[in-house]
Formats: sequence, structure tokens, C-alpha cells
Amino acid sequence: MNIVVVGVQWGDEGKGKVIDVLCTDVDILVRYQGGNNAGHTVIVEGEEFIFHLIPSGLLHPGKIGLIGNGVVIDPEALLQEMERLRSRGVDVEQVVKISDQSHLIFPYHKRLDLLEEASRLGRRLGTTGRGIGPCYVDKVARCGIRVADLCNPKSFPKKLRQVVEEKNRIFQALYHEPPMAYEELLDRYSQYARVLKPHSVNGIRFLRQAMAEGKHILFEGAQGTMLDLDYGTYPYVTSSNATAGGVCTGAGVAPTAIDKVIGVVKAYTTRVGEGPLPSEFPPGLMEKIRTKGQEFGATTGRPRRCGWFDAIVARHAIGINGVEAIAVTKLDVLDEMETIQVCVGYKIGTHTIQEFPSDTELLWDAEPCYESLPGWCADTSLAERFEELPQGAQGYLRRLENLLEVPICLVSTGSKREQAFKVGSVGSW
Ligand code: GDP
Ligand code: IMO
Ligand code: MG
Repeated sequence: MNIVVVGVQWGDEGKGKVIDVLCTDVDILVRYQGGNNAGHTVIVEGEEFIFHLIPSGLLHPGKIGLIGNGVVIDPEALLQEMERLRSRGVDVEQVVKISDQSHLIFPYHKRLDLLEEASRLGRRLGTTGRGIGPCYVDKVARCGIRVADLCNPKSFPKKLRQVVEEKNRIFQALYHEPPMAYEELLDRYSQYARVLKPHSVNGIRFLRQAMAEGKHILFEGAQGTMLDLDYGTYPYVTSSNATAGGVCTGAGVAPTAIDKVIGVVKAYTTRVGEGPLPSEFPPGLMEKIRTKGQEFGATTGRPRRCGWFDAIVARHAIGINGVEAIAVTKLDVLDEMETIQVCVGYKIGTHTIQEFPSDTELLWDAEPCYESLPGWCADTSLAERFEELPQGAQGYLRRLENLLEVPICLVSTGSKREQAFKVGSVGSW
């Protein structure tokens, strides 16, 4: 069984938590896109762990994690994350694998990310500043450096020199910034090569072999559909395909190898960074939900913008990803609400639309059309079965199923591993 777990909103849906819960029967977990712009939180025995590059789920013993070729790897961030995992008793040397075709992030990518963002006067994207966009630009421009290049001491110095010279011309001419020292970079990255080489595998062969052996694989989406380069709120997106289609290009597996797609949705909506968010809360409610939901970025610590559940967005995402079941998280955050709104249309000028528009500009003026549902004003955090939820919460979830036309397979009512229960049979192997 090969399963894909994707974010259906603007990221931070609780993918890390859901994957940690769902992956008990999984053998291999794979990241297929993004980089350390991601922050996937897992809380086990009161201890919080945030995964940035390594797949969530590796706190369970016996699982292997692969960073697929579609991921952009910052070696410094990866080594830090490996160290944190090691200190939790994980046998990192055995369980963390890296595709030798993954592209690498260099300090010039991070520097360019910040410089480009600063120069986008009036149209900032609010990137995480991790060098993600510039690294993918190099990949597409065919001047990127991959793990296999890094591990080849003969060709690596030449490749790096060429890129550094090119970047230095940009730093100096365009940004009037000092150049970067090639020798220092060569030295630092050659050291990374020694540490990373034992983790490097041919990712495609590795997964093909695993499938031939009947292993269960979970492909972990980072970010969310609305941040997907093609299907999100362009240009306020990230630079990779966060959607299920990204699995094929980002992990080297065929579409026919995917058995199931699960979408993760928050019971409301959040977004961090710039860009339109039609169902955004007014300030008072924003503060209340942000505080109750602890809506601060797991990577940058920035406050997340919050809003009501947007069924237009979720339907759009479910269609693109072929989501067959959804995991609903953070239901508990709505526990105190007397009334809950769900966005079911956008009023744009004199028209009301129910389909997500291609022109992102329209979203700035989209007025959300809400359907009101009764809240439950009761604690859901201890529920262990759907039937134990208050009637209002059950009604809310059933309405989401109707609107999205997919069943719910998991409900999460708290950040801890135990605070989740499966619904129906999806998600169990
Ligand atoms: P991801 O990027 O999709 O993995 O999500 P993040 O980890 O960035 O953000 C989700 C946040 O919500 C984390 O702080 C989680 O610990 C927390 N969380 C996950 N599920 C629940 C839930 O059901 N209830 C509450 N209150 N918090 C949750
Ligand atoms: P996870 O995997 C939420 C957002 C940034 C910014 C935009 C582009 O934890 O859900 P980038 O640095 O990728 O070029 O920034 O994308 N962004 C995320 N927002 N969750 C994430 O990851 C994100 N990764 C990137 O805030 O708006
Ligand atoms: Mg996150």
C-alpha cells in the first residue's frame, strides 16, 4: 500500500501529527518536495519535535525516512535535524536516506532569497528566507548542484566555482553586495559531503526495491495545495508542487504506484506569509483563535493569519489531489465558538462563484459567503471515538463531508499523539 498525505489548505494543517498517527503500519516515509521551509510538529510524551527535512514518523522505531529527489536540501539544516533526532535515540545513520538526485541549498540561495524579497517593494511574498525559491530556480535553470555532485570530489569544485562566480556577479552588479568566498564554501560543503555520503542512495531504485518487497510507503507532502506552484494562489506560493502529482516527479514513482491519497485539513483555515485569504477573521476573532490554536509558524515563529474553513479552497484541493478521505485537525480549537461559519462561495462584484478562480487578483476583493452552523461549546479534546464528540461537533464534521464529498478518516482534537481517532477503515493497513 502506497499512500500520499497532502495539505489541502495553505500548509500547517497538522500533517506531521496526522502522519505520526497514521504511519504505524508504514515501513518507509518519503518527502518529495519543498525543503526546510516546512515545519511538521509531532508531540510525543510531552516532548515536541519539529521535522523540517526528515519525514515525520521517524520517532516510531523501525521506520526508514527518504528525502526524495524533489526536495531541496540545506545540509546545515539537515545535520542539525539529524543531531536532534540522534539525541532522541533515533539511529539516524541507519534510518535517514537521501536521494542522490536532490538539489542542495547553498548560502547564496539564502542570501538571494532575502535580497529578492527585500527588493519586491509592495509585492512581498513573505518567504521563509530559507533559500527555497532560488534553489529551485537553479534547478530549472540547470545550474543546480545535486547530492551526487557534492559527493564527487573531482567535479564538485569546478561546478561550485562556476556557480559562485555567476552569483557573485549578481550580488555585486544587481545588489551592490560583497561577493561570497568560493574557497570557504568549497571547504564547508566538502565536509558536508563526508557526512552525507553514507546516507545517499539512488532514491528511485531504493523505492522500487521496497515496493517489490511489498513494503508500505507513505509520501509526505510539505506545504499545502494553495501554496503549490501551479495550483495555489500564484504568485503567493512556494516553488514546488506540494500536490499529490509532485510525488511522481519528486520521488521517482509512477502514478500507478499510488494507492490512496489522504488530505489533511484544519477545522478552520490558516496562512503564514503574504497573499489573499478570503475567509480571514476580523481582528478580535483572529486573536482568539490564534491564541487558542497556538498559530505561530513552526519554522519561522511568525503569527499565522486565521480564518473560517473555506470549502471552496478545500474542494479545489481535493479535486486536484484526488483526495479520497480527509483527516480533520484542530477541532478542539473551535470548542468555545457558539456559531461556526463555513465559506461556501465568493461574491466578486455582482457575481457569486463556487469554484476557485484562476486569477488570484480576484481573491483580494472576494467577499466570502458563509453558511452558519451551531457550535458545541464543549470540550472535544478527550474524545476517543466519533460518537463521543458533542452533537454540534459531529454535525460540523458531517457537513464538511457533505460539502467536500469525501469521508473523514481521522479526527484530531489536540496536539498530542493520543488526541486523535480514526473514523471508518481508511488509514489502516
Ligand atoms: P504541518 O506543517 O502541517 O505539519 O503543521 P504544523 O506542525 O506546522 O502546525 C500544526 C500545529 O498544530 C502544531 O503546533 C501541532 O502540534 C498542532 N496540532 C496538530 N493537531 C492538532 C489538534 O488537533 N489540536 C491542536 N490544538 N493542535 C494541533
Ligand atoms: P509546512 O510543510 C506554511 C509559505 C511561506 C510563504 C510562501 C513562500 O509546515 O506546511 P518559501 O520560503 O517556500 O519560498 O515561501 O510559502 N510557506 C509555508 N506556509 N507552511 C509551510 O510548510 C510553508 N512553507 C512555505 O510562508 O508565504
Ligand atoms: Mg508547518
